[in-house]
Amino acid sequence: MGKALEKMSEAIRKIDVVIEVLDARLPWSSSNYQLQEIRRSKPCIKLLNKHDLADPITTKAWVRTFEKESGVRALPLSAKQHSETKQLIKLCQQLAPNRGRPGWPLRAMVFGIPNVGKSTLINTLAGRSLAKVGDKPAITTCTQQIDLHNGMILSDTPGLLWPNMDDQSVAYRLATSGAIGASALDYTCVGLFAAEFMMRRYPQLLAARYKFGDMPDTPTALLETIGRRLGCLISGGEIDVHRAAEAFLRELRAGKLGRISLEEPGDVVVNDGVMQDGEAVQE
Ligand code: G4P
Repeated sequence: MGKALEKMSEAIRKIDVVIEVLDARLPWSSSNYQLQEIRRSKPCIKLLNKHDLADPITTKAWVRTFEKESGVRALPLSAKQHSETKQLIKLCQQLAPNRGRPGWPLRAMVFGIPNVGKSTLINTLAGRSLAKVGDKPAITTCTQQIDLHNGMILSDTPGLLWPNMDDQSVAYRLATSGAIGASALDYTCVGLFAAEFMMRRYPQLLAARYKFGDMPDTPTALLETIGRRLGCLISGGEIDVHRAAEAFLRELRAGKLGRISLEEPGDVVVNDGVMQDGEAVQE
């Protein structure tokens, strides 16, 4: 076990509830399997954050799937909405009913890979800006303890958790969501991945946003059509596919096409209690 994980494992001993922040659009790809190992039997809330961007039917299916795991509760919410984060406090109190009294604070710790919304959540719960929210992943690096003045002490992770990037489809889904920076993978390839995915899963959202009658035949043709619509042209009127991919991903991430989920529980296979990517297992 790496030094950072050892530190986290040690920290988990002293807390009552583990809050794992996931991106609701890709809850499996944005998880960290090592957290499973170090959390042992501690109660865990899988927070499906950014649910305002995710397909609500798929999010419900993820909640049912996660709640089959022992000691796990799943909660979709938007960390930006103070009213929604109140449900999280309630759930923590349910999971640690003997805590939250004077002298016995309820101790919760927030975990998650970069960019899932940990800082946003901490700031919303604290009611003030304590952690930096940014467009570059991995901005939060120091641990802090925050007294929420409701019997609960919140800490952020003493270290960074990373997703499992060995699996290519996981890497592409993370890049599509914006969790991986632009330098990690080629933008055009990510755009083509996202285009192929949207043609398969959400063709109606593409048609509604880009107003085409017949769906283009290939992901490349789709990016070209989108590029033409959005004015991503180079001299001579040719489409700049790289810029088209960037513009398409920007719109997708901002929810301009509607609420989409990049993976469903059915995409994942459970082998010996461990979730694995269905496509990778078939290969
Ligand atoms: P991190 O600490 O886990 O690295 O994530 P962080 O809070 O920095 O959030 C990463 C991005 O996700 C931020 O956007 C943040 O506003 C956005 N975000 C967090 N929670 C939610 C949510 O519930 N819904 C939506 N739609 N977005 C959320 P950004 O564009 O990188 O920064 P900013 O422009 O908001 O400052």
